[in-house]
Amino acid sequence: MDTPERVNRSTAPEITVSGIGKRYGASTVLRDITLSVAPGEIHGIMGENGAGKSTLLKILGGAIAADFGVVKLDDREVKIAEPRDAIAQGISLISQELALVPGLSVLENVFLGRWANTGSLLRSRRDADHLERLLAETGFELDPRAMAGDLPIGQQQQVEILKALARGAKVLCMDEPTAVLNEAEKAKLLKVIRSLARLGTTVILVSHYLEEVLGLVDRVTILRDGQHITTEDASGHTPESLVGLMVGREVDFLIPEVRPVPPEAKTVVQVAGLSSSKVKDVSFTVRQGEILGIAGLVGSGRSETLLAMFGADRTTSGYVQINGRRLRANSIREAIKAGMALVPESRKEQGLVMCRPVDENIALSTLSGRSLGGFVRVAREKAAVSEISHSVDLRGARRGSLIADLSGGNQQKALFAKWLLNPPAVLLVDEPTRGVDIAAKARIHGMIADLAAKGTAVVVVSSELEEVIGLSHRIHVMRQGRIVAEFDRNASRDEVMASAFLK
Ligand SMILES: Nc1ncnc2c1ncn2[C@@H]1O[C@H](COP(=O)(O)OP(=O)(O)OP(=O)(O)O)[C@@H](O)[C@H]1O
Ligand SMILES: [Mg+2]
Repeated sequence: MDTPERVNRSTAPEITVSGIGKRYGASTVLRDITLSVAPGEIHGIMGENGAGKSTLLKILGGAIAADFGVVKLDDREVKIAEPRDAIAQGISLISQELALVPGLSVLENVFLGRWANTGSLLRSRRDADHLERLLAETGFELDPRAMAGDLPIGQQQQVEILKALARGAKVLCMDEPTAVLNEAEKAKLLKVIRSLARLGTTVILVSHYLEEVLGLVDRVTILRDGQHITTEDASGHTPESLVGLMVGREVDFLIPEVRPVPPEAKTVVQVAGLSSSKVKDVSFTVRQGEILGIAGLVGSGRSETLLAMFGADRTTSGYVQINGRRLRANSIREAIKAGMALVPESRKEQGLVMCRPVDENIALSTLSGRSLGGFVRVAREKAAVSEISHSVDLRGARRGSLIADLSGGNQQKALFAKWLLNPPAVLLVDEPTRGVDIAAKARIHGMIADLAAKGTAVVVVSSELEEVIGLSHRIHVMRQGRIVAEFDRNASRDEVMASAFLK
């Protein structure tokens, strides 16, 4: 007798793209891409920021239309002009930027668009049961009635996955799905991907995490500057060999040199008993030139600590002192005046003005702070901005390009570059290298270390333990809104992990 696995395996089609090309104005971002993905295969797509990975996935998902080439499912040419064409063919795209309706519940989001003409009670009962089953299968722990907008980003992504599964997706295209997840959620997702593939779902995955890709995928496709470089079995590859193919030249990965904090360095930041709805009685100090890392699970209060310090989240007690001066609570204006800068987690909502040019965004941080005559200021600023764009390698950004038209990773770099122009006294950074390719990541780490060496007091929040440990002088671990452990930079990964999880 056939096992269910075998029965299911035949349901996903072989998916072939041939001669796919995409242009924006004069620039060609994908050129003549041809490759096939087998049913039930886990296929990785890799390349540097701006290589065209998201563009290729968006074409498969119908989010944008290709200018050239065809997509075939089992040798049958299909026309994918919009998302619903892709969905009808069993292809679901989970984008870099999640697309849930924040004011609807988990349940409503999962079955969105299918309630239009069957709003009956019976229908919603059936949907609730269906969701129940999907939750059991995936092991995601979500309250079906919770508002999507209230969920942390990791759980929002789980809702997106459930939505795709509820639609019966046979080909799941995921754009950097693990970039927003913590270690535990990541492990859970990888498990879900593996079991979906075992049951016959094809998964096409974009990721910058080399080890993760190598441990997961059957084959890997490398894109470089919009071109298909190669598609190969993952088994013969190492992280280094992949990088070589992605970049097309030798790269060295320097762990940034984090200089010890001089003993005489004075305390710049003092946080005392800070509490908000998500943060409980948090106290710490950061000295000049010191990098303090905050580790912990998603929802443990890491980001909220930064937001409370910056005056962006309402605090209920405690205070922040910068260079001996106590800040008025809940005033972003005063935080900025005292020399504090925040590079937030969500570039789209908090950090960048999407519809304005890149150079303007980078310059934004300095516009208010300079009193030079307008003309001189503009000229200097232009020079500085172009130097910084160059140093973070903002590929694809031409003069006047809009932020919205940059690739995800390049948006992150632009966000970061904005503060480098004018080093602040205190820099708060949340997930500084999310979605950034490996070469750029090393560059951003280097820049954070440089800022510290110049005297900035830095607080870094990151879900990547290697990043927190490698970059910080000291590490605080948070759990349920509180600081529960403290380590120095010689801490092991396991020690830090354990303190984030254990009760
Ligand atoms: N709407 C647009 N207009 C102009 N250029 C665009 C537009 N969308 C994307 N691009 C350009 O296409 C190129 C490829 O972008 P894409 O988002 O596919 O890169 P990516 O490989 O996903 O990069 P990342 O790793 O940073 O996410 C980039 O140079 C980007 O600037
Ligand atoms: Mg992308």
